Amino acid sequence: MKTSRFKYSLLLLLFSPFIASATGPSISGVEEPVAEHCEQSEINAITDPKERFIFAFKCGQGLFSARFNALDGGGANVGDGNMFTGVPRADLNGPGEWANHIPTRRNGPDGEACVLCHAEPTTGSGANALNIVLDVTNSADLSLFFTRNTTSLLGGGAIQLLAEEMTQDLLKIRDAARSKACAIRSRVRANLVTKGVSFGSIDVACNPSQDISRIEGVDDDLIIRPFGWKGIQASMRDFNQGATHNDIGMQPEETIGANVDGDFDGVVRELFVGDMTGLAVYQTAQARPVTRLELADLGLLEELGFDPLVPGQRESIERGEHAFNVIGCNSCHTPKMILENTVFTEPSQFETHRDDIFPSGETALSLGVDPNNPVTFDLANDIIDNRFIVNGQEVALGNLEVDSHNRGIVRLFSDLKRHDMGPGLAESVDDEGIPASVFLTKELWGVSSTGPYLSNGAAGTLSEAIIAHGGEATIPRNKFLLLSSSLQADIVEFLDNLLLVQVTPE
Ligand code: HEC
Ligand code: HEC
Repeated sequence: MKTSRFKYSLLLLLFSPFIASATGPSISGVEEPVAEHCEQSEINAITDPKERFIFAFKCGQGLFSARFNALDGGGANVGDGNMFTGVPRADLNGPGEWANHIPTRRNGPDGEACVLCHAEPTTGSGANALNIVLDVTNSADLSLFFTRNTTSLLGGGAIQLLAEEMTQDLLKIRDAARSKACAIRSRVRANLVTKGVSFGSIDVACNPSQDISRIEGVDDDLIIRPFGWKGIQASMRDFNQGATHNDIGMQPEETIGANVDGDFDGVVRELFVGDMTGLAVYQTAQARPVTRLELADLGLLEELGFDPLVPGQRESIERGEHAFNVIGCNSCHTPKMILENTVFTEPSQFETHRDDIFPSGETALSLGVDPNNPVTFDLANDIIDNRFIVNGQEVALGNLEVDSHNRGIVRLFSDLKRHDMGPGLAESVDDEGIPASVFLTKELWGVSSTGPYLSNGAAGTLSEAIIAHGGEATIPRNKFLLLSSSLQADIVEFLDNLLLVQVTPE
């Protein structure tokens, strides 16, 4: 998937005599770019861990909401004089145009800022008007296009850390089986279970090429990739490398190399390595989602603009939670997972969830991105948003809850596993080798605030989303349909309990 820098440079050399960007940055000196960049060296120069975290967070916060203009390199040379397009244009394949951008486009550029789509609240999800249309095979064939609805980024750090720990568990299971297989000179079956979730099994031989895979819901390399509807990206930074380029036309230098203009808009170094660190830190340090009951117990529900609980609502939520588990929704939407270590580092401590070699071909270390000298923060202590004063005491609601062993409690309602959801939910074409009907279990924390629902935004209500389930979810979905309407309403009430709140201090 990752193309080397050499290849990019070669292509650019080929195209460079023909390129004229759509509008180009010719007004330089009259008007200014808006980006406030940060260099990785500036981040690394801050020795106090807390100060370094806050610096990186603020850098990412500014970039996430910046409306980049042509001088920043926002947008791209789509062709036909356009800098933005909601419709993928693989038909525009002249020099420097849509079909020849580097890396290959999937969509867009759709707009000028991340925050315009991740709008409800600031890093949350988006309405159907903000959907992305993708042409992942660059077919220019409308029947192969499909639509995706914007997802929320709240609690993103916990999602990545869960994926990191689960991956290490699965790799350990496989490695232990490998040692045993070599010792006893025979295949050993290993059940791939982590945090209560089964990813099938594998018959491990001493020689890896002779393994017999019965792996389910994860790639054969056993790396849990928890981001995107399909679960394609392992880390927030990895997702952002695609989002910056595809969605807003801001190309990270770590993707294409410094001084390379892969979207032919006349601007290079659109996003610095430090910018990408800042964005990843900002997004992984987002507050975790909350619940209506939690806010009610703290007396915060009305203060935050939500309706007060009505009589019987708490009981309905509790009945709904019970029914959700009884009919088997919890077999994918795992209500709670435990995180052994709540400290997030950017880059990750695990090579499975960081780039040691960036897509540009450069090593992360040579660009100052060093796992031994990372940006560090604790998801259970350091979250900046959602700090409220209740009875004279600060309640840091953005922090992860912890158990008596100080382990993180993540009420994600996902198993971070991919499932076949049946033909009704299938997209028009496979994506990165993942079959069209297969999706990562959508996390349900915050779901009351993230409508419309499903990957294509087709479900306006929670019950529509539930009824649209098929494939591996057919039995729980049919059980839902057989419940009394009052129990169905309880399940919806339970889901409606799960909220996003985002209050950022000045
Ligand atoms: C035009 C609308 C749009 C814009 C602009 C946009 N996004 Fe997104 N974002 C989406 C959609 C749609 C998805 C779901 C995509 C998918 O799963 O394929 C998404 C998903 C994500 C995810 C994955 C979240 C998860 O938990 O799975 C991340 C991270 C993300 N976007 C970051 C960004 C960043 C950073 C920017 C700005 C550089 C940005 N997005 C700009 C629409 C947008
Ligand atoms: C086999 C695994 C599985 C089971 C069982 C399952 N779901 Fe899902 N659920 C998913 C996946 C995967 C998605 C995303 C599907 C898509 O977008 O096409 C999803 C999406 C959802 C959504 C929409 C979330 C959003 O943000 O768009 C809701 C609500 C939901 N499920 C509730 C339920 C309920 C209630 C049950 C029990 C009746 C249930 N699910 C059973 C896997 C499952």
